[in-house]
Amino acid sequence: NNQKKKQTIEGLELLTKFYHYLLTTAKYGTPGMHYLESRGFNEEMIERFQIGYAVDSWDVVTKFLQKRGIRLELMEQAGMIKKRGFDDKYFDRFRNRIIFPIFNMAGKTVAFGGRTLGDEKPKYLNSPESDAFHKGQILYGFHLARQAIRKSSQVVLLEGYVDVIRAHQAGVLNSVASMGTSLTEAQASALTRIADTIIICYDSDTAGVEASFRAAEMLQGNGKIIKIANMPEGFDPDDYIRKFGGERFKSDVIGASQTLMTFKMNYLRRKRNLSDEGDRLLYIEEVLKEMTSLTRAVERDHYLHLLSEEFSVSLDSLKKQLHQMSVTKQ
Ligand code: UTP
Ligand code: MN
Ligand code: MN
Ligand code: MN
Ligand code: MN
Repeated sequence: NNQKKKQTIEGLELLTKFYHYLLTTAKYGTPGMHYLESRGFNEEMIERFQIGYAVDSWDVVTKFLQKRGIRLELMEQAGMIKKRGFDDKYFDRFRNRIIFPIFNMAGKTVAFGGRTLGDEKPKYLNSPESDAFHKGQILYGFHLARQAIRKSSQVVLLEGYVDVIRAHQAGVLNSVASMGTSLTEAQASALTRIADTIIICYDSDTAGVEASFRAAEMLQGNGKIIKIANMPEGFDPDDYIRKFGGERFKSDVIGASQTLMTFKMNYLRRKRNLSDEGDRLLYIEEVLKEMTSLTRAVERDHYLHLLSEEFSVSLDSLKKQLHQMSVTKQ
């Protein structure tokens, strides 16, 4: 089984080079290169992340694997090739897609994510779970970000492949991605093991915002500082950096990231019209409700003061109501 895993990774390493060769060779890679250029990714990133291109063919990869003597059934299990129903012949699974190798902690390729050049579905085709690849145990970009994370003791958690690549291109070298919005326990513990501050910067859409709350709650409670970055609605880090540049991303997004409670308060605030008395009261109630999950007295006190000052409500009444809400919650 270990032998099998080793051979699988050898095959995937070889394919990383092959897809990258196809991308960077004009005869094959032009559509892929055009796509990456149109999105503004530079050559340095194409090299650092070993980006590749699967040409629009049914058998280029299958033939390559055969020629190199790689065991095809291993590559089938790793999701690189598939068997045709009617004659049991293998064909390529990734076709006409940009290929993002997914590296393990040691920097070896254990899977691929393949993006369409257009808007076909699925947008990203990923390698299936296998002995070599457990998606929930990997943070995309980790081995490239490790040094910068250690140095700053800070890690920036993003959603997607292209967000990580864009962030690196902008010089935010301590960024990694959970590859989607569902952070796993294994990913969470890898993050809290390596850094003192974790900044979550998921896409600024409903799914991303809700996932940020979940992620922050998972990461909280072991003495680490958990913050959430704030971007204008509809942006993801890649969009933001393309539009406003890396410096503004560093200062206005990463630099202005907030604790979970402050982030929630701002989120709730945006849904209300605080010049309306009814909305003001509802807002205070919603914030108090969120505060019932705060475990540290100092933290509770801090936000109670903020509320009391902003809305000219007595600390005492806020405390009473919070206490009541905490009791009824149990
Ligand atoms: P997004 O849908 O936010 O894509 O998914 P993206 O990263 O912004 O990509 P672009 O800019 O449209 O190219 C975030 C991440 O979720 C995973 C991928 O890891 C993706 O980077 N995902 C998303 C999938 O695995 N499959 C999908 O079909 C979509
Ligand atoms: Mn190269
Ligand atoms: Mn998203
Ligand atoms: Mn996105
Ligand atoms: Mn995007």
